[in-house]
Amino acid sequence: MSANGEQVISGLEGVLACESSITYLDGLRSILEYRGYNIHDIAETVRFEEIVYLMFEGRLPSADELSEFDRELRDLRQPPVELVRMLELLPSFSHPMAGLRTAVSFLGCQDPEQEEGGREANLLKAKRMVAQFPSVVAAMARVSQGLDVLRPDPELAHAANYLHMLTGKRPDDASTRALDTALNLYAEHELNASTFAVRVVVGTLSDIYSAVVAGVSALKGPLHGGAIDEAMRTIMDVGSVENVRPWVDRALAEKRLLMGFGHRVYKTGDARAPHLRNMVQALAESTGEPRWYEVATAIEDYVRERKGLIANVDYYAAPVLHYLGFPLSLFTNFVASSRVAGWCAHALEQYDHNRLIRPRARYVGQREQRFAPVEAR
Ligand SMILES: CC(C)(COP(=O)(O)OP(=O)(O)OC[C@H]1O[C@@H](n2cnc3c(N)ncnc32)[C@H](O)[C@@H]1OP(=O)(O)O)[C@@H](O)C(=O)NCCC(=O)NCCS
Repeated sequence: MSANGEQVISGLEGVLACESSITYLDGLRSILEYRGYNIHDIAETVRFEEIVYLMFEGRLPSADELSEFDRELRDLRQPPVELVRMLELLPSFSHPMAGLRTAVSFLGCQDPEQEEGGREANLLKAKRMVAQFPSVVAAMARVSQGLDVLRPDPELAHAANYLHMLTGKRPDDASTRALDTALNLYAEHELNASTFAVRVVVGTLSDIYSAVVAGVSALKGPLHGGAIDEAMRTIMDVGSVENVRPWVDRALAEKRLLMGFGHRVYKTGDARAPHLRNMVQALAESTGEPRWYEVATAIEDYVRERKGLIANVDYYAAPVLHYLGFPLSLFTNFVASSRVAGWCAHALEQYDHNRLIRPRARYVGQREQRFAPVEAR
C-alpha cells in the first residue's frame, strides 16, 4: 500500500475490470454458465455451432437460424491458399502456437476489409476466424507429419469436418460428440489472461484480427494454455494403473507440480472436467483402448486422496485429444480453435461498450536524478 492509500493488486487478482453478459463463473460453488445456460445442460448435448451462435448473438438459435449459421460457417472454412503455403514455409522448429499466431496475423492481412469496423463487419470476421481456425490447426498437424493438407468437406458439420481435416477419415459419432464437447467446454471462460488481452487491444479500437493475435499470444504461455500437453505427458509417463501410486508419491515428494490439477478460480471442482471424463470413457469404449481412461482416472482418484487436488479442464481434455488423433504439440492450438469463439464474443462486447483500458502503475524507481551529458558520466 502506498503512502496515499493506493494499493497495487498484483496480477489484478479479484479486480473487476469490466461488466460482461457472456459468462457467469462461481469458483466456490463450481458453477459455469454461458449467457445464463448451465454448462451441465449444454456441454454434452449441443453442437459447437450452437455455442458460437449463443456467444455472438446472446441467445440459442432456432432450428432455422442454426442451419443458416451452420451454412455460413461451412462457406467460410477454406483458408486462403497463400495461408496454407505460408504454413508450409514455417521452419519445423517454430513453436506451433507461434505458427498459429502468425497464421491469424496473415489471415487479417489477407482480408481487404481488415480495417472495416462496425458490428456486421466484425461479426463476419469473427465467423471467419471460428470457421478457419480448425482448418489451420488441422493443416499444421498434417504439415508437421509430412502429409497433404486436406480441403474442408462441405458435407460435414464443424466438429466432424475438423476431425476429417485432421485425420483424413470420416469420424464416428463417439469421436464427433467428444470433439463437440471439448470445443463447447473450452469456448469461453470469462476474463482469463488471453481474453483480457483481447479486450485491451479492442479497447484501443484496433481491429479484431489484431485482438485475436493478442489472445493467441497470451494463451501460448505455460501458465495459461500450456498445461494441457503436460497433462498428457504425465498420463503417458505413468503409463499403467500399477505405476500410479509410486509415480504420484515420488512427484509429491519432489514437490513437483502435477499438471492438469488445481485451479486458481475453481476450488471445489472444475465444472468442465466431469464432461471430459465422460468423453474419455466413451472414446475408451469406442476405440477398444481402455488404457488412457484407466490410467487417467486412477491418477485422479489417488491425487484427490493424497493432496485433495481437483482435476481441471486440461486434465481430461488431454486424453480426449490423444484418442482423437491430435498431435501432442498441437493441444494448445486446439484450445485456441475453440476459445476463438469466446475471444470474439468479448471483442464484440468491448466494441459495443468501449472504454480504453489503461490502468496505472505505482512508480517505485529513482526520482529527481541529476542529469549529466554523456561525456561527463
Ligand atoms: C492452476 C494453479 C496455477 C493454481 O494455483 P494456486 O491458485 O496457487 O493453487 P492453490 O492456492 O489452490 O494451492 C494450494 C496448494 O496446493 C498445491 N498445488 C496446487 N496445484 C498443484 C498441482 N497441480 N500439483 C501439486 N501441488 C499443487 C500448491 O502448491 C499449494 O500447496 P502449499 O499449500 O503446500 O503451498 C496450480 O494449481 C497449477 O499450477 N496447476 C498445474 C498447472 C495446470 O494444470 N494449469 C491449468 C489450469 S486450467
